[in-house]
Amino acid sequence: MNTKCLEPSLENIKMCAEALASGKVVAFPTETVYGLGASLFQPRAIDKIFHLKKRPSDNPLIVHVSNFNEDSKIAKKIPKDFYLLAEKFFPGPLTVVLEAKEIVPKIATANKDTIAIRMPNNECALKLIEYAETPLVAPSANLSGKPSSTRASHVIEDFNNKIPYVLDGGDCNIGIESTVVLLEEDGPCLLRPGSISSEEIELCLNKKVKTNKKKYKGCSPGMKYRHYAPDAFVFLKKEKDIIDCHFVRPLFLSSDQLSGTTLLTRQNLYELFRFADRNKFQEVVIIDSDSLRGDNALFNRIEKAIKRK
Ligand code: TXA
Ligand code: MG
Repeated sequence: MNTKCLEPSLENIKMCAEALASGKVVAFPTETVYGLGASLFQPRAIDKIFHLKKRPSDNPLIVHVSNFNEDSKIAKKIPKDFYLLAEKFFPGPLTVVLEAKEIVPKIATANKDTIAIRMPNNECALKLIEYAETPLVAPSANLSGKPSSTRASHVIEDFNNKIPYVLDGGDCNIGIESTVVLLEEDGPCLLRPGSISSEEIELCLNKKVKTNKKKYKGCSPGMKYRHYAPDAFVFLKKEKDIIDCHFVRPLFLSSDQLSGTTLLTRQNLYELFRFADRNKFQEVVIIDSDSLRGDNALFNRIEKAIKRK
C-alpha cells in the first residue's frame, strides 16, 4: 500500500472520511502538528495507531471534535471552566482533560477515567471530522519518541506504505503540539505547555494554573517519556562554551539571529530535527539564551529531546 498524499479538496476529504469509517487510519493536518487519525468508536483502528507509532499502551490519545455538542457526548460532569476555555480558545491549540463517559472506548484513554479533548483550528481537520460524523482520536503523526510531523512529507518519512492516505495541508502554522490542561475541582493544572500560555488560561479563568508538579506527572503519561528527539544527539550550550566542545558533525541552531547558526523557531523545530537526521548530522547544538528560555513551550520540547532514557 503506497501512501497517497492528497490535496485537501472536499472530494479527497470525503474519501478519507469514508476510509476512517471503514476502520482505516488516515493522517491529517492541524494547526499544531499532523495527526494520525482514527474514529473514536473503532477500537481496532485505535489499536492500529498504537502499533504503527510503537506507542506505549499507557499513553492516552487526544480526541478531536468539530463542534461543541460532541464534548457532552463523551465527557461528563463538565465544569464551567471548560466552557470558558472553549469559548475563548476553541478552535485552537488547547486540549482540555475532562472526566470521560463510559461510552468512550478504554483503548483511547489508556484505561483512564479521563479524556483529553480539543477542537483543531484547521479547515481540513474540521471538515474531516464533520464528514466522518464522529470525533477522531489523533496522536501526533510520528513514530513514538521521534520529532512530530509538521508537513505531509514527514508523515511519509515515518509511515509510508503503512497508511492509505495523508491529507496534505502544507506546513503547520504553529509547529508544536497543543497546550494540555487538566481541570480539577481545585483549579486547572498544566500538563503540557504549548502556544496558549498558562497566563492566558489564568486570565480567562481568573484562577491560578498549577504547573508541572511531580504529583501530576503520573496524570499525563506522555510527560514521562523522552520525546520529539532526532537520532542525532541534542545539546544545549552557551555560545561562549562552544569553543571547548569537540563535535563530530554538528548542526548549530539558535533562536537569536547568530552567525554560523540556523534560526530556530517553534514552526521549524521539528523540520530542523528531521533535516539533521536526513543529512546525517551527529549533533544538534542549540545555543542557550534568555530568549530561548523565555519561550516555555519551545524550551520544553528541547529539554525533552535532550533527555536520553
Ligand atoms: O497538538 C496536538 O495536541 C497534536 C495534534 C495532532 O492534535 N496531538 C498530540 O497528541 O500531540 P499526542 O498523542 O502526541 O500527545 C497527547 C498528549 C500526551 O502527552 C498524553 O499523555 C496527553 O496528551 N493526554 C492524552 N489524554 C490524556 C488524559 N486523559 N489525561 C492526561 N493526559 C492525557
Ligand atoms: Mg506526540
